[in-house]
Amino acid sequence: MKDHRDSYFKKIIPYFFKGKEFGFAVAHTLFSIFKIDVGSNLLLKIIKVNSPKRILDLGCGTGRHTVALAKLGFEAHGIDQSPEALKIAQKQLKSKDLKGFLKEGDIYDTLPYADNYFDSVFAIQMVYHSTLWRINNLINEIHRVLKKEGSFFFSSAISVKYSMSINNGTCYIPIEPGTYFPLDGRERHMPHHYFTKEEIYRLLKGRFRIVDMYNDKENYYVTSCLKSK
Ligand SMILES: C[S@@+](CC[C@H](N)C(=O)[O-])C[C@H]1O[C@@H](n2cnc3c(N)ncnc32)[C@H](O)[C@@H]1O
Repeated sequence: MKDHRDSYFKKIIPYFFKGKEFGFAVAHTLFSIFKIDVGSNLLLKIIKVNSPKRILDLGCGTGRHTVALAKLGFEAHGIDQSPEALKIAQKQLKSKDLKGFLKEGDIYDTLPYADNYFDSVFAIQMVYHSTLWRINNLINEIHRVLKKEGSFFFSSAISVKYSMSINNGTCYIPIEPGTYFPLDGRERHMPHHYFTKEEIYRLLKGRFRIVDMYNDKENYYVTSCLKSK
């Protein structure tokens, strides 16, 4: 179990900068500050949609967004199932003299937070790592922990082919319509559901009102919505 949870962050890739060699965990390399991507765009949007104070970064990984949010002055909370990733996130916060609230846990279980606790929930490249049934439960949980009119921002993968190519996967087994279980590659044993636009609307219906949705260049739908009741 532990191996599977941490496999995502184990591979270290050498990185050369100004003649010096650094070792970056793979997730760092792909999702680092060196790449302006979907997450950074969302960070900008979140400020515009409302003025959140307490934000949850679901599946925070190595803290790419948790750290950025703490830096912007938000009360930043992060949860992830990988202790390895959380250690890196904690180190990042400490090195920048920032405060963040990190927890280890499975986000598809009951979220370990009180009702109406967050102003905003943030889930980048994360929500779709399960079957539709469990993702639907997660949306209920996000709805529960969000305050009235709270905002929810997430990105969801669109293409199994793209996932396979960036994760060196060759064998993704379909386990239900739109959901695959990778048998190899960097995201081995981490299920993925590839959402269509219509499915996202169905998933959120009655619980969230979509403010904006776009297809970014990296093959993700990026959705911003508000808790509707
Ligand atoms: C693609 S990474 C994205 C990390 C981060 N959101 C970012 O954008 O840099 C997916 C993250 O989801 C975490 N994850 C996957 N399944 C999870 C689960 N069931 N519970 C908690 N975290 C999970 C992984 O450990 C990993 O950190």
